[in-house]
Amino acid sequence: MKIGNIDLTPPFALAPMAGMTDTAFRRLVKRKGGCGLVVTEMVSSEGLVRGIDRTLEYAEYTEEERPVSIQIFGGDPDKMAAAAQIVEGMGADLVDVNMGCPVPKIAKHSAGCSLMREPAHAQAIVSAMARAVKIPVTVKMRAGWDDREINAPDLARRMEDAGAAAVAVHGRTAAQSYSGSSDWDLIDRVAAGLGIPVFGSGDCIEPAQLVERLARGPVSGVLVGRGALRNPWIFEQAAAIRRGDAARDITPTERGQFLLEYIDLLLDERLGEADGFRHVAPGEGVIEPAPARGHHRWVINKLRALNSWYTKGIDNGSHLRVAINAADSIEHLREIVREFFAAGAIAGRAAHSEPRPQLSLR
Ligand SMILES: Cc1cc2nc3c(=O)[nH]c(=O)nc-3n(C[C@H](O)[C@H](O)[C@H](O)COP(=O)(O)O)c2cc1C
Repeated sequence: MKIGNIDLTPPFALAPMAGMTDTAFRRLVKRKGGCGLVVTEMVSSEGLVRGIDRTLEYAEYTEEERPVSIQIFGGDPDKMAAAAQIVEGMGADLVDVNMGCPVPKIAKHSAGCSLMREPAHAQAIVSAMARAVKIPVTVKMRAGWDDREINAPDLARRMEDAGAAAVAVHGRTAAQSYSGSSDWDLIDRVAAGLGIPVFGSGDCIEPAQLVERLARGPVSGVLVGRGALRNPWIFEQAAAIRRGDAARDITPTERGQFLLEYIDLLLDERLGEADGFRHVAPGEGVIEPAPARGHHRWVINKLRALNSWYTKGIDNGSHLRVAINAADSIEHLREIVREFFAAGAIAGRAAHSEPRPQLSLR
C-alpha cells in the first residue's frame, strides 16, 4: 500500500490514541514487527502554531518509528495549514486531520467530529493544508455524527476532492462513542467510492481479523487501536497469518518484558518533567516535588493507563491491574511486573483461572 510516495508495508497501522500511543509505546510496537505505520496521539494545531512545549512533545517521534504520521486537530483552516507546515518541518512522513474525536472539549470548537457536520468547512481545512505542504495529508473520520447523519461516504469524497491522499474511517458515529460496533459495510462503501486508499478502523482484536478485513476488500489498510493496547504483537501475528504461517503465542516472559521496556523508555523521556507533576495537599498549597519524583509519578500513571487495556489480554489480568494501581515507586512497579509474569506465578494463576472468555472490547 502506498500513500503518496510513502510505502506502507504491511498495510496495518497503529491507530492514534490520545494518552496511549506515545513515542515509547509506538517504538515498542514497531520493534515487534508487522506494523506499517504509526500515528501519534492527536496534537493541537493551536498549540503547534503557538509553539507550546507540551504540544510539541506530543508530536515528537524517533527515526525507528518511520513511516510516522502526526495527527493534528483544529477548526481554523489557516492555523491547520500552518500546523501542517510545522509537522512537515519536523520531518513527519504524513499529516493526519482528526475528524473523529467526539470529546466536547474538542468538538465544540468546530474540530474533531463536529467537522463532519460542516463538510464545506472540513473541505476548506484540508484544501488549505494540502496547498501548504508537500507531504500527504490524510483524514480520519467516523461514520457520521449520529445515526441520522451518516455521511462518511460523502465527506470522504469531498476530502479526496480537497486533496487528501488517504482517508481512515472508524465505523461508529460520534453519538455512539464506543458503544455498538464499527460498521465495516459502511467502511467498505466509503472505500469502494474513492480513488485514494482507505483505512478501516474498529473492533479488530484478533490478528486474523486484520487479515480478513483486508482480504475482503475494498479497504487498502486496517488501523488497530485497542487491540494493540491489549496485544502489541497483533501486527506481527497478523503479518504471519498473511504469509500463511501460524500466529505465534506470546509468552508471559515477553509480556512482562514489554512492560519493563515501556517503563525504561518512559523514564528516558523528558515529557514527564515538563508535565511538572504537582499535587496539592489540603491547606499546604501546591507542592513542587523534585523533578525526578514528578517524572516517576508520570511513568506510574502511564503504566496504569496502559494496563487498563493490557491486562484484559491476559489471564488474571485484574490482579496485575490492582497491583499496579497501588504501585508507589518505579522499583515497586518493576517488582510487581517481574513477579506477575514470572513463569511459576503465571502458571499457578492460570491453573486456577476459568477458561478464557471470548474476547470483547469492553
Ligand atoms: C483511548 C483512546 C484514545 C483515542 N484517541 C484518538 C485520537 O487521538 N485520534 C483519533 O483519531 N482517534 C482516537 N481514538 C480512536 C481510535 O483511533 C480508533 O479509531 C477506535 O478506537 C476504533 O478502533 P479499535 O476498535 O481498533 O480501538 C482513540 C481511541 C481510544 C480507545
